[in-house]
Amino acid sequence: MTHKQMRIIDHPVLGAMNERDIMTFTFDGHTYKGFKGDTIASALLANGIRQLRVHEERGTPRGIYCNIGHCFECRTTVNGVSGVRACLTPLKDGMVVTSGQTEPVPLNSEHDVDELPRTYTEFIQKQKAHEAGDSDA
Ligand code: FES
Repeated sequence: MTHKQMRIIDHPVLGAMNERDIMTFTFDGHTYKGFKGDTIASALLANGIRQLRVHEERGTPRGIYCNIGHCFECRTTVNGVSGVRACLTPLKDGMVVTSGQTEPVPLNSEHDVDELPRTYTEFIQKQKAHEAGDSDA
């Protein structure tokens, strides 16, 4: 599928899409093409990519939601910088874009949930006990 197949090339009201500078970028190691004026999200959508990341805990797919920069559902990593909103960020030639992955969460760790502090006071008490060398803290 080429980058032009998912675009409106000749709109009945707006007219034909003008030729624009083609830009090359990668997403999760695959090379795609977009146009100057695209956002990362629009370029990926034009290439048939709807999933931009996964939910960090559950691994469920995430993509464009608001498309105006409010929800952060479209966050990607761009040239090593995480949390970049694909819907607001203009595409640049040579960009390296990666999606997110699931991350370990405290409640899924090897710690017993009942041992985790429930309040800030409990947290401070456990921290002080830990610093004092109390292994039961
Ligand atoms: S889709 Fe909502 S911030 Fe990008």
